[in-house]
Amino acid sequence: MSSTFGRILRLTTFGESHGKAIGGILDGYPAGIPIDMDRIQAEMDRRRPGSTSLGTSRNEKDEAEILSGVYNGMSTGTPIAFMIRNTSQISSHYSEIEHLFRPGHADYAFQRKYGIRDPRGGGRSSGRETAARVFGGALAKEILRRDGIVIGAGAIEVAGIRATGYGWNPPFPPPLYAPECPELQDMIKAIEDARADSDSVGGVIECRAQGVPAGLGDPVFDKLDALLAHAMLSIGAVKAIEFGAGFAAARMKGSENNDQMEARDGKAAFLSNNAGGILGGISTGSEIVFRVAVKPTPSIAKEQRTITDSYEDTVVSIHGRHDPSIVPRAVSVVEAMAALTITDALLARRCYER
Ligand SMILES: Cc1cc2nc3c(=O)[nH]c(=O)nc-3n(C[C@H](O)[C@H](O)[C@H](O)COP(=O)(O)O)c2cc1C
Repeated sequence: MSSTFGRILRLTTFGESHGKAIGGILDGYPAGIPIDMDRIQAEMDRRRPGSTSLGTSRNEKDEAEILSGVYNGMSTGTPIAFMIRNTSQISSHYSEIEHLFRPGHADYAFQRKYGIRDPRGGGRSSGRETAARVFGGALAKEILRRDGIVIGAGAIEVAGIRATGYGWNPPFPPPLYAPECPELQDMIKAIEDARADSDSVGGVIECRAQGVPAGLGDPVFDKLDALLAHAMLSIGAVKAIEFGAGFAAARMKGSENNDQMEARDGKAAFLSNNAGGILGGISTGSEIVFRVAVKPTPSIAKEQRTITDSYEDTVVSIHGRHDPSIVPRAVSVVEAMAALTITDALLARRCYER
């Protein structure tokens, strides 16, 4: 089972949602970086269950404990191991679905691969695993901050309602973690309506990385956009990613899509950013911009057809404490995975420069 992400900065996560704890090891983290636990906890708080009125009614504190790799508030260059205890599980919620497969969740595929699964809370396929990613991402941001790189993400679409005319000044506030826009209240209402209707809704999260220098990434397999796509599609419920103009580029002419250039004060300037800040797999120095599509939460209370693990037809209505939309809580996860990927590319370039 692949539980490690990254080449130089490597995050390994462990744990299931209803086990004792989840956590991880972040290896390859440089020595001598001050670790600000308050800032890291603030990142964890944005993702934690109970952080948004639009999320699950579960309420986990999500306090991370560092076990190694930090001395007197400073990284030592050795593996940073950390643990986040699970404190708000109600496993009895899952007894009804122990022997059937939830439509849209990983249950059936997981059973076919391993022949055994922990049905409580989605086990290893639970959104809870992403708490470890947010912790790793928060540590990566401590490195990026020193290089003037800022990564921000926000919800820009919910249930087909798209934000228009929005500015960009992350971090965005709860409950939706979206930029201010005329459609904000309608987007929030769409999630509340879905909850009232025992259903769920999806949406789109935009992420931008500002201050990324030109020259990060590789020209072939480890293209920066390919690594970001890997990072994003490894998040549960993320189904698609587009960079810059994305799918709209397929409908443009070359003359429209090309980001034309001019020289400004002896430096390169792009007149547009349809490429999303990456050309040939390598950052151009423009803002890196991408959007991910998040599907509606699979676990819903509305009755749906499915089968049991002895292959009999049945119906299921899921009554655990689930997010009516994953979008608000996934915002910090998208940021974290972007931070890990870009930090990894930054550290890889430093190795190359030596
Ligand atoms: C932050 C976060 C929270 C999630 N919360 C839930 C949830 O409450 N209920 C649920 O059924 N799925 C939830 N998911 C989604 C499932 O983990 C995901 O849909 C499932 O593992 C199947 O994977 P796939 O959708 O990528 O195919 C969440 C995902 C994330 C990232």
